[in-house]
Amino acid sequence: MNAVQEEPDFDPAVHRLIDLSINTYYNPYTRFDWPDSLVDEQWWMSPDLLTVFDTPFMDTMSERELMALSKYETLNFYSLNIHGIRELMIEVTRRIHSPGYEHQSEFFHHFIGEENEHMWFFAKFCLKYAGKIYPDKSVKIDTGTLAPDIANFLVFTRITIFEEIVDFFNSRMAKDESLHPIIQEINAVHHQDESRHIAFGRQLMKQLHSDLSSRHGPEEMLAVGNYVNRYIEASIQSLYNPAVYRDAGIADPYRFRRELLQQPSRQRQHDRYLKRTKEFLDKSGLLPSENAYGAN
Ligand SMILES: [Fe+2]
Ligand SMILES: [Fe+2]
Repeated sequence: MNAVQEEPDFDPAVHRLIDLSINTYYNPYTRFDWPDSLVDEQWWMSPDLLTVFDTPFMDTMSERELMALSKYETLNFYSLNIHGIRELMIEVTRRIHSPGYEHQSEFFHHFIGEENEHMWFFAKFCLKYAGKIYPDKSVKIDTGTLAPDIANFLVFTRITIFEEIVDFFNSRMAKDESLHPIIQEINAVHHQDESRHIAFGRQLMKQLHSDLSSRHGPEEMLAVGNYVNRYIEASIQSLYNPAVYRDAGIADPYRFRRELLQQPSRQRQHDRYLKRTKEFLDKSGLLPSENAYGAN
């Protein structure tokens, strides 16, 4: 099966991304100055990215409590990255040098290499400064029963959406001077690499989708849209981790999580994280807004 049909402007764009990858290559193992330790009492994550932001808890919790929460939320964010990267590397590795991906294989080599390095620096941070990585609690949505072309589209859609949500956080923290330089650096370096991955992922999604809609009826395409919505919702919910609230000293972590998710103001923040992604899905016709997550 031909996974991706050739389009005249696809190859030059991919070659440009590959050139960029080669020309901006860095050695991740010497790139960072890792301090021996980081003090607990500091902002480990920009306060406006915390899951309590824009809720009354920002006023009722002390700065010390919020800083403790920021430590564990940053660890959760890096842990989600580690698990997300592992899953996406598995999927891309399954497809590299297989029929239909002849035009993508060269880029995939850079992608897999860079993601391996990202996973390394996120894991290094978690293990060095907290001695742990939060376990993967994500519910796997089975794509085994789907037609192979639908499964391919969903794999690359999942990868790109995941990278876009992460990139919202990376871009913010890369520029937040209230954060320790090592935290700013990790986020800045990841943002730089991810801008290429997102550009590639968006193009591939469009191509895989145009092939799909010629082969499947509206009912199947609606099921594809519903799957994407469920994935987006699950990704947002994974930011609210009861283990984080427990580590931050919050008495009833499950109740705290429920209360936060019920705050209407949090939807506003989710919309911020997803704005760029939803605009792309809508404009490109991949997931029209009447079908898109959070649309009203
Ligand atoms: Fe990455
Ligand atoms: Fe990436």
